Amino acid sequence: MDSSKDLWREYVASALKGILKEADPSASCDGIENIVVAEIPPDPAMGDLGFPMFPFAKILRKSPAQIAEKCASLLSASFPDASVKAAGPYVNIFLPKKDVASKVLTEIISLGEDYGKPGVLDGKRFMVEFSSPNTNKPLHLGHLRNDALGESISRILKFCGADVYKVNIINDRGVHICKSMLAYKKFFNGKQPSDFSVKPDRFVGDCYVKFNDYSKENPEKADEEAKELLRLWEAGDPETLALWKTMNGWALEGLMQTYKRTGISFDKIYFESETYLKGKDEVLSGLEKGIFFKAEDGSLCVDLSPLNMDLKAERKVLLRSDGTSVYITQDIGTAISRHNDWSFDVMIYVVGSEQQYHFKVLFYILKLLGFDWADQLYHLSYGMVNLPEGKMKSREGTVVDGDDLINTLRDDALAEIREKERTETLSDAKDVAEKVALGALHYYLLQTSPTKDMLFNPKESLSFNGNTGPYLQYMGARISSILRRFVEDSKAASFRDAPVVPELLTDPAEWELLKTLSSYPDVVSRAAENRDPSIVTAFLYNVSKCFSRFYHDCPIFDAEGNSGKESASLSRTRLELAKAVSIVLKSAGNLVLVPFLTEM
Ligand code: ARG
Repeated sequence: MDSSKDLWREYVASALKGILKEADPSASCDGIENIVVAEIPPDPAMGDLGFPMFPFAKILRKSPAQIAEKCASLLSASFPDASVKAAGPYVNIFLPKKDVASKVLTEIISLGEDYGKPGVLDGKRFMVEFSSPNTNKPLHLGHLRNDALGESISRILKFCGADVYKVNIINDRGVHICKSMLAYKKFFNGKQPSDFSVKPDRFVGDCYVKFNDYSKENPEKADEEAKELLRLWEAGDPETLALWKTMNGWALEGLMQTYKRTGISFDKIYFESETYLKGKDEVLSGLEKGIFFKAEDGSLCVDLSPLNMDLKAERKVLLRSDGTSVYITQDIGTAISRHNDWSFDVMIYVVGSEQQYHFKVLFYILKLLGFDWADQLYHLSYGMVNLPEGKMKSREGTVVDGDDLINTLRDDALAEIREKERTETLSDAKDVAEKVALGALHYYLLQTSPTKDMLFNPKESLSFNGNTGPYLQYMGARISSILRRFVEDSKAASFRDAPVVPELLTDPAEWELLKTLSSYPDVVSRAAENRDPSIVTAFLYNVSKCFSRFYHDCPIFDAEGNSGKESASLSRTRLELAKAVSIVLKSAGNLVLVPFLTEM
């Protein structure tokens, strides 16, 4: 329907131009096509496409209803095969079902996993930064939302034809890292993660928690000691560097395990310890050029007054008076290194909304430094995510550990499989449970628009009916079993070799399903444009609901046509439609990181 939609937009525009010319032969028709909007009528009985005529009332000096009347009659005369109706201020079109059915079905089956690629971003280069953890603790629920968004948006952009380069910045230096190191030295010296049988990043996180305890008892002393460790680190003290390397190694090892488990990957990982000096250099050369200034206390600052931001300070420190760098310093260096490494058209930073100010200032500074590409930097700011009160707080008491959460989801999914006594029929129940957990997690996290805060409700996310990942996976598994039955079941012998005849798909449930499938390219383009995977999750839910209705209303194995031959063809064609649905479910599911399951 996607291409039909564009075609009909053109037809409607040319009819409107005709009306305008008739009224005033000297009038200019420029730009009319740009204000023709196609809508999907709320009730399919009204038509497949609807064109509101309000925007033309002024130009044509007629009421929208009069225009609709005239436009519909012109279109009916030019396209006798189509059904065009004026309904109040709307021109509604009923698409020729046979053509659409045959086009959609043939396209999906022949293109397979390439079906739906809209090609709107062909050749465009996007760099996407996401995850970007610190190496002092394991990933938490907020990171899981970040990872899901970054990976999903990258896949969506790629599906639209873009060249996508996924990057991560690991903030592996600074006083927060030294805090874990200090606690290690004091309380765990000589120990290894394996001594406690914990994931290595968890062990580092445990050290960090221990530092917090220590600091509660010795507030000033603890911070001073951590700062001293940072000074040693910056001075290149061998013992401090060795411990830093070991502990960062543990943190990274654990992070990588979680990335692998959740299907997240990167083309390049940057490390703050390798880019912060470049940031320092840039700030110093900016001072020489007079872009930055030295404050009374000796720190190097940028003047923010031209930015006109409320509430915040008029200046931002870029290098402290003792010459040490701050958070934004490394980001200046990292951005420049990245553009040198892989010149991008657009760079997207997936980072929480609490850093909006940081990115505004960062982009402003890069622009001041003369980098034109600073205009192409985009902060995809996402909201907070929490669990419903009282559930699964980490020992630190503030954040929800990512690994723990996935383990809980997996165990709950496995318990449900056992309860339904499905363990025997599944070839690998544990693997299915793991994939259900990931499907539940990712779908739930992506279903909310990125900018909104949200609550993650584990129980709800796992529900098998409703707008959830497992519900989609269940649909996929159901279709897979139908497709297996087609090959194996003797009942299918009667229609296995019958021809596929898309024109036979005339039931309203079939028509709705076909129309929904045909909107896929449009859906993905919108998701890419708005950088919003929830547009894809909504589509997936819609496909599943339409399939459910189709499956209920239109028997596949016992289809009834006007003759034996026709019944066989109808069965065969419905099967083809089911296959098309599974192709689209798998493809769109992949865009939102929901694993496709052939059995469940
Ligand atoms: N590691 C930082 C944090 O945990 C986030 C880094 C975001 N990315 C960036 N380029 N600053 O707060």
